Amino acid sequence: MSQTFKSRNAPPKASAMVEALRGLGYNTQTALADIIDNSVAAGATEVKIEFAWSQAGSRITCLDNGVGMSAAGLDLAMRLGERNPLEERAASDLGRFGLGLKTASFSQCRRLTVSTLGADGMQSLRWDLDYLANSPDGGWHLLEGPHPGSEEYATPLSEAGRGTLVLWEELDRIITAGSSVQDFLNLADKVEQHLGMVFHRYLEGTRPRLKILLNGQVVKPWDPFMTEHPGKPYNPPVFKHPTLKGIEAECHVLPHKDMLSSEDFELLAGPEGWTDQQGFYVYRNERLLVAGSWLGLGTGRSWTKDEAHRLARIRLDIPNSADADWKIDIRKSTARPPFYLRDWLTRLAEATRGRARRAFAHRGRPTLLGNKQVVEAWKVERLASGIRYRIDSDHPAIRDVLDDAGALLPQIKAMLRVIEETVPVQRIWIDTAENRDTPCTGFEKTASSEVSEILMVMYRSMIEKKGYSASSAREQLRTTEPFHAFPSLVNALPDNL
Ligand SMILES: Nc1ncnc2c1ncn2[C@@H]1O[C@H](COP(=O)(O)OP(=O)(O)O)[C@@H](O)[C@H]1O
Ligand SMILES: [Mg+2]
Repeated sequence: MSQTFKSRNAPPKASAMVEALRGLGYNTQTALADIIDNSVAAGATEVKIEFAWSQAGSRITCLDNGVGMSAAGLDLAMRLGERNPLEERAASDLGRFGLGLKTASFSQCRRLTVSTLGADGMQSLRWDLDYLANSPDGGWHLLEGPHPGSEEYATPLSEAGRGTLVLWEELDRIITAGSSVQDFLNLADKVEQHLGMVFHRYLEGTRPRLKILLNGQVVKPWDPFMTEHPGKPYNPPVFKHPTLKGIEAECHVLPHKDMLSSEDFELLAGPEGWTDQQGFYVYRNERLLVAGSWLGLGTGRSWTKDEAHRLARIRLDIPNSADADWKIDIRKSTARPPFYLRDWLTRLAEATRGRARRAFAHRGRPTLLGNKQVVEAWKVERLASGIRYRIDSDHPAIRDVLDDAGALLPQIKAMLRVIEETVPVQRIWIDTAENRDTPCTGFEKTASSEVSEILMVMYRSMIEKKGYSASSAREQLRTTEPFHAFPSLVNALPDNL
């Protein structure tokens, strides 16, 4: 028996508490995703969202065809903090805190009406923040039925025969002074993109488990990993955690921009753009929680999102039983990996980041052709004192000059050294960040006649001075940077000079 202390009941004043809960940091997209989580948990296969514009009287509704709630169920659902977050949940449940429906809604509107058609027929309850604010007793007055004049909005639910309708009115956080119908529709577009991303695994396939309609339009899934895309050289295998059940990762490196059509490049960027959408994609029950983050991991310092790693996207599945370990927040938008996973995740991320960096730097061109290493003109030297860039004297174009230099050798070596010591690293770095792409190299955007001219100089020298046969010279050039990107020009070199 625990000790009894002298105490007093100290409930919060409803109006003040609810106003404070509005600031949890949801936006319209994340709030609606939370509402849909409940629909999915209730077994819905179709969710219809409507953005209905009517100036200050605009409203947003979310209608699902799930199992609905009983009268008592709805009463509990509308209460704040009725379910304990520590309670074990069905593996398919997307909820956790027993707050989402209320906090997500209050973040966007001042009046929330939930109507449900379940075991006890049509039931409606509502919270009205203005009513709470005007109640001198500070009580939690859960109102019965829809707001007078809003009854008709539940008609689609009674027609459907089963399910739940969430109605947001008094959208004070969405409709502000000067808001136009266009702003409202732009917001609907953002919501569509966000939902297509968060629920993409539910929406995919020939027979998707879930269909979301936004103002009558089917929300299309957005797959961050472009699985099955023809431009993707390789689809990674699934890594299962060696001991923990239900934890799996897939380490994707997306194709370089040069390998994609401009539409695909745009589409794959995702709602927040390439740089922001890199990193881990954490899914709990296949619902996306975190859309691109390095999760505070890193070797030494935490990794930040930068251009060089923007092609790395790692899919990570976690079970909902690990919520406490992952510090899932109420909005389900942040997650921090537990200590026991950090090493494993860091190793996966390091390897993926390395591959992504190479794909970005080589503009998607392979450094291996068949099983032959491409001969590069620059070497990276990693010394204790730092990284240096050196011209590789084994590159045929360089070798050729050095071998023939004779008395000029010291001057030529001095010239190469000056070039190496003045690589405009800072400049390249700044320009890459500003243009969100590496500067042009490798004869990119160069007329092929110009490339052929330079190829010819090297080809001639290989044959005439080094004694290569025509075919072995071509063979060599096919794996020599930057000509390896122009196999057809190499093939077109004549047999006889
Ligand atoms: N669309 C819905 N269909 C059926 N039941 C729902 C629906 N939305 C909410 N509920 C019920 O209300 C409860 C509270 O929802 P919510 O506040 O989002 O918390 P949580 O999802 O964490 O349980 C849910 O657990 C569920 O029982
Ligand atoms: Mg919920």
